[in-house]
Amino acid sequence: MPVCVLVGMQWGDEGKGKVIDLLTDRADVVARFQGGHNAGHTILFDGKKFILHLIPSGIFRSGKLCVIGNGVVIDPAAFTEEVCALEKAGFKLDGRLVVSDRANIILPYHSISDRKKEASCNTKIGTTGRGIGPSYADKIARVGLRACDLVDESKLKDLMQENFDEKKRILKNLYNQDVPDFEKIFDELLEHRETILRFIGNTQALMRDVINDGKSILCEGAQGTMLDVDHGTYPFVTSSNSTAGGACTGLGIPPNKIDRVIGVVKAYTTRVGEGPFPTELHDADGDQIRKEGDEFGSTTGRPRRCGWFDAMVARYAVAVNGIDAIVLTKIDVLDQMDTLRICTGYKTGGKVVTEMPASLSAIEQAEPVYQDFPGWKQKTSGLETFEQLPDNAKRYIEGLEKLIGIEIALISTGPDRTQSIIKKDLI
Ligand code: IMP
Repeated sequence: MPVCVLVGMQWGDEGKGKVIDLLTDRADVVARFQGGHNAGHTILFDGKKFILHLIPSGIFRSGKLCVIGNGVVIDPAAFTEEVCALEKAGFKLDGRLVVSDRANIILPYHSISDRKKEASCNTKIGTTGRGIGPSYADKIARVGLRACDLVDESKLKDLMQENFDEKKRILKNLYNQDVPDFEKIFDELLEHRETILRFIGNTQALMRDVINDGKSILCEGAQGTMLDVDHGTYPFVTSSNSTAGGACTGLGIPPNKIDRVIGVVKAYTTRVGEGPFPTELHDADGDQIRKEGDEFGSTTGRPRRCGWFDAMVARYAVAVNGIDAIVLTKIDVLDQMDTLRICTGYKTGGKVVTEMPASLSAIEQAEPVYQDFPGWKQKTSGLETFEQLPDNAKRYIEGLEKLIGIEIALISTGPDRTQSIIKKDLI
């Protein structure tokens, strides 16, 4: 595997964690390129459960170098917490984890601002409330603090003071919200600063050296295509580029060095937070999928909205990301459904829509056109060959492939690594 980018093809939570774990075996470096501690992977390792929000799960494999790229926003407290939990469990991180000196920092007033905005606006995004949006807003407005600013303590104070004063005024004037005392926030930052400084480095140069040495990199996307700030269902999106191009900007990897893009898609659709979701189910089928799929957020615990597979979304994801190979996850969740529906496209005003509309109202008004497939009513969990699948499950998968336009390379039939059907080489 040379340089491979892995992305979610829907609204996040596609089960990327397991695929990342499978591919990590073949990678020398695993790198995050966007998002922050809004993402979450639950990893079972040696009978212990770890929830990682920032650090790539490659950290559990010896010999793998983990990178947090410049495109990621880092909450110092969340980062320290993960580092401490991993070190307490006996994992050695020094020399195995590098944090970009160009990554922007999330400060406590970013999460206050995130939550206040959500509480007071008419258009609620349903964010994770972790300060992701406000921190990226500071980055784009060129007023944010970056990891490299933590190096010089004396300059750091002035930089933060300027940012703090502005945020304090905005929060007071807009929401009548007080922020904690500057000295308190600054002291907290100093507490976590040491941990970040232990791992800080020039990850852009590191990526270049790794590529020049012929080593392999797995670029791990968080969230999913439809949550991308440019290509998703704006404004109901996250604040970063979760599509494949984000790997170039978020790690400093030149586009011509990306060799392969892998898309992960769930056998049905889920979304957390607000925003359009044409194939959403509000009935017993939706409840059944939620229950069978344990569809509750790993970061916030929120119940996920559930719906039928949307091939319009999947085709869009293939096009926007340049997906070469697809992993289909959680097929076993559908084992007991009577009938399954796949949305083949949308109709608005009686007309078939062939391109994903930009306008929210157009997506909201889109009427899904469905093709029905009979359920298989048999257990598929744990199956390891395509031949073992019930005929109706094969028909459903072949239907998906036809509607998405490319063959599915790997089908996941359960959370364990071995519960996978390999149809084609992923890499
Ligand atoms: P934010 O990223 O916290 O600003 O939230 C923006 C939107 O992205 C909300 O709808 C969140 O629920 C959603 N979101 C953020 N991270 C994830 C994720 O890891 N999985 C699924 N949805 C997410």
